[in-house]
Amino acid sequence: MIVWYDSIDSTNSEALRRLPELPSGTVLAAREQTSGRGQRGNTWFTEAGKNLTFSIVLKPSSLAAGEAHLLNYLASVAVAEFLEGYGVSCSIKWPNDIYVGRKKICGILVENSLSGGCVAASVIGIGININQTDFPQLANATSLSLATGCEYVLEDCLKAFMTVFEAWLPRLKDLPESYTSLLFQKGVQARYIDYLRDGEEFTGTIQGVSPDGRLIIKTDAHEERLYRFKEVGYIL
Ligand code: BTN
Repeated sequence: MIVWYDSIDSTNSEALRRLPELPSGTVLAAREQTSGRGQRGNTWFTEAGKNLTFSIVLKPSSLAAGEAHLLNYLASVAVAEFLEGYGVSCSIKWPNDIYVGRKKICGILVENSLSGGCVAASVIGIGININQTDFPQLANATSLSLATGCEYVLEDCLKAFMTVFEAWLPRLKDLPESYTSLLFQKGVQARYIDYLRDGEEFTGTIQGVSPDGRLIIKTDAHEERLYRFKEVGYIL
């Protein structure tokens, strides 16, 4: 079921508030978010009525806490395939920013509740820039409209996205392969910043992800380094 709000603080916050009563698979979508939340406590700004901002509630029956990264992969791969459906190729900037070329088109915020070593519930928040064409304060943002030159009906886009998303749900274990194949800068030598080593900058090449969801970067000195979220940054 998809529930549309004209205006709400944040679809993730609303899903978390209503979590006990919402069945798995419920989607809360907003035409406007007044306090959209992003990664690392950032605010997610989008122009009202122009973009998709929504949260999907999932209550997996048996997903171990150690496999929670599969939910990030699920959202990322589904967004990539959804955009592919409109003829737009994109890549996944680890862990879950979706890029068209070198510009961000979508951000994802997954918030999990764990219980007994399992993911009891997950709120998968997704913001996809659809019809917005001006990003005054965001130099590296883009949208579906900017990529294709067309305008879209948000409700139709969300239905199309959910079709792709739901098709992946029974195949979570197949996601790492698709996710890895879409990784931004995979196999390409680039600069990174290592927060585990006092912010040291280094040159390396992304190899893929480990079974527990860490990013693998091989340094120019052939050292393989594994990173969790916030332990490494891209120098773009
Ligand atoms: C990021 O890239 O920082 C993540 C952004 C996530 C934004 C989406 S929009 C729908 C959902 N509700 C929120 O408040 N945040 C997520």
